[in-house]
Amino acid sequence: MTQRLVIANWKMNGDLAFVEALASSLPSLANVQTVIAPPAVYALRLAELAQEVFKVGLQDVGRHESGAHTGEVSAAMARDLGASVVLVGHSERRSEHAEDDAAVAAKCEQITAAELMPVICVGETLAERESGKAIDRVRAQVMAQRQCLRNAKEVAIAYEPIWAIGTGKSATATEAVQMHQAIRGALEEVAPLAAPEIRILYGGSVNAENAPELFAYSDIQGVLVGGASLDTEQFAAIIRAAAN
Ligand code: PGA
Repeated sequence: MTQRLVIANWKMNGDLAFVEALASSLPSLANVQTVIAPPAVYALRLAELAQEVFKVGLQDVGRHESGAHTGEVSAAMARDLGASVVLVGHSERRSEHAEDDAAVAAKCEQITAAELMPVICVGETLAERESGKAIDRVRAQVMAQRQCLRNAKEVAIAYEPIWAIGTGKSATATEAVQMHQAIRGALEEVAPLAAPEIRILYGGSVNAENAPELFAYSDIQGVLVGGASLDTEQFAAIIRAAAN
């Protein structure tokens, strides 16, 4: 677990011009692994431009290996495109596409079978936090992926409190660290052999301003960045913060 992981999640944003512009603007730093997850249609071009500076990720894949699943992209296709990382279980997938833990597990299995690295997203709602249920909720989401956590050659967890995503209201570093420690505990319970190598990322309104504070804590081994990853200067600053 030597390198910090900084992942850009473009969501349904960007275009070919942005793909070209981004590729030449990111720093390459030895102790930071950068991943860009554009909309799937841009992954191939991005992979052509990536050189050694960043890896390419997808934001999701289908839960089946192949077949009659209109609109879906398989994990094997993701690998074909040059992707090596796949986000799975992002809260927007869970809420907009009714993906439950079983769906996330099925996708995770496809991702590991294709020898790609899943980044399993977990996080609580504001109501769950306010009623003191955040840790239980997130631990349960982690535990539901025990199979994937044990089987994956490489896997990461992204803790993204739903109330912090796209709201400009990041969790404090203390809140993030407390949850990361709870997640670490859950990983040690369900996947004791793999746990030491699993990186835990924070996501939710990460920007160039709050990144240095988050990276001051060794419990935070990376970040998943939405909005701020669409600004190349700001995203480059987050990568530099991860290196310090
Ligand atoms: P945000 O999104 O940085 O815009 O809050 C993070 C995410 O949803 O991955």
